[in-house]
Amino acid sequence: MAAQNQEVIVTNDLWKIYRLGKIDYPALCGVSLKVRRGEFIALVGPSGSGKSTLLNLFGALDRPTKGQVLIDGVDISRLSDDKLAELRNKKLGFVFQTFNLLAYMSAADNVEVPLIASGKPSRARKEKALEALALVGLKGFELNKPSELSGGQQQRVAIARALTNDPKIILADEPTGNLDSKSAAEIIGVLNTLNKNNGVTVIMVTHNLQLTKYCHRVWWLKDGILEKEVVQNA
Ligand SMILES: Nc1ncnc2c1ncn2[C@@H]1O[C@H](COP(=O)(O)OP(=O)(O)O)[C@@H](O)[C@H]1O
Ligand SMILES: [Mg+2]
Repeated sequence: MAAQNQEVIVTNDLWKIYRLGKIDYPALCGVSLKVRRGEFIALVGPSGSGKSTLLNLFGALDRPTKGQVLIDGVDISRLSDDKLAELRNKKLGFVFQTFNLLAYMSAADNVEVPLIASGKPSRARKEKALEALALVGLKGFELNKPSELSGGQQQRVAIARALTNDPKIILADEPTGNLDSKSAAEIIGVLNTLNKNNGVTVIMVTHNLQLTKYCHRVWWLKDGILEKEVVQNA
């Protein structure tokens, strides 16, 4: 199989049912899909349609009620918690709406955080952090604290932090949700560059269709069902 056709994420009849008291609330109702290596995919749909639930299942941040998630062909429900954590650390990078940076640390130190447990020597960690910051266009801002950076720059630090383990896949949940339109466009530009130049597979939840222009496919979720797929000439 050609490398670009490899399926990095596959779901089969994926269900997530939240139990609230005695009531079952189905948040995902049998989602089957395939993400190929190197794709940039947008996940859109109304609030409460299950976007975050689906993204969290892709990222093994949560376990499905029923159905399978395969990452690189491995059914993650069969992995122990340790192996799951390892898979998350090695293959996945997460970016959220809130940047979740540590306020008292510089940009470079924030980016280094995920590497601390890696066993890499301090010098190699620092090099990696600087490299990741350069990749998101933050050369020169390494020593700035989050409060000394704009919202868009803070999100770029968060993306750099997600890149330190060289993830194959970036899962971004409304990464521009807290940003003005100019900063949002910059963040989409960074994700697009990572996708095009670095071969990172990107799956992004967004409310804003204008931000999906680089996406190869747009998936529409409604009431926990994948309602529609639009293929784009990105
Ligand atoms: N931890 C939870 N417990 C109970 N219900 C939840 C939980 N997380 C999400 N839900 C419900 O599942 C549905 C889908 O939520 P979510 O995936 O967050 O939607 P979206 O990201 O599209 O806004 C919503 O109705 C939400 O209220
Ligand atoms: Mg959400």
